Amino acid sequence: MRIDVFTLFPHSFDWFAEQRHVRNAAAAGLELVALDLRETTPLRAGQVDDTPYGGGAGMVLRVDVVEAALRERYGDDAARVRDTRRVIALAAGGRPFDDALASELAASLLDGRDMTLLCGRYEGFDERVHEQLASDVVSIGRYVLSGGELAAMVVCDAVVRKLPGALGHEESVVEESFSDALGGAPEYPHYTRPVEWRGHRVPEVLLSGNHAEIAAWRRARSAERGTLGPA
Ligand code: ADE
Repeated sequence: MRIDVFTLFPHSFDWFAEQRHVRNAAAAGLELVALDLRETTPLRAGQVDDTPYGGGAGMVLRVDVVEAALRERYGDDAARVRDTRRVIALAAGGRPFDDALASELAASLLDGRDMTLLCGRYEGFDERVHEQLASDVVSIGRYVLSGGELAAMVVCDAVVRKLPGALGHEESVVEESFSDALGGAPEYPHYTRPVEWRGHRVPEVLLSGNHAEIAAWRRARSAERGTLGPA
């Protein structure tokens, strides 16, 4: 399984790659590689962007720069790379990222379809990157980041933790917020010691040892949170 991230700041992924669950996934066969778009640019002096046609502020990442990076890495017609891999361009206006898409991407990795993440900077990519080179355009929320790197890490993190062996305890991804097991609702509340803090006690049912009642209580709290909307 391979995740390639194309970025102008490959070192920004060093910290992420060192995280425990990513190292666990690496030990189980995941290869996460960050590649520098500047290293393969066909333009002089490491140029990767240009001014927008029609005018306006900011710079736009060029489609020929992304094409060259994909061709160099995959040795293929860059427009065909998406036939065999998920090629995901990160952009504020893309498809909203959620648990269902994270599960879909994890399943597609496990199925042998590797993943490529394209991180934009400045005003983002030339639209032809989205249309002709990417299989998906994904947004992590309706706000604008300075680049796609944090968004790529969010996507990677949510996907990698669903891979077998990434977390120590497999059941923790099955019954977590927004999962099918909870009908897409947020997770139920958790408590640990002390049993009483400033007069606030842990709900008695959780101390009862009655697993059926605990499961029913958790499902009810989760469903409640799902209908309340965001806290
Ligand atoms: N690039 C800039 N903003 C972004 C966002 N919200 N999601 C994904 N990529 C982005």
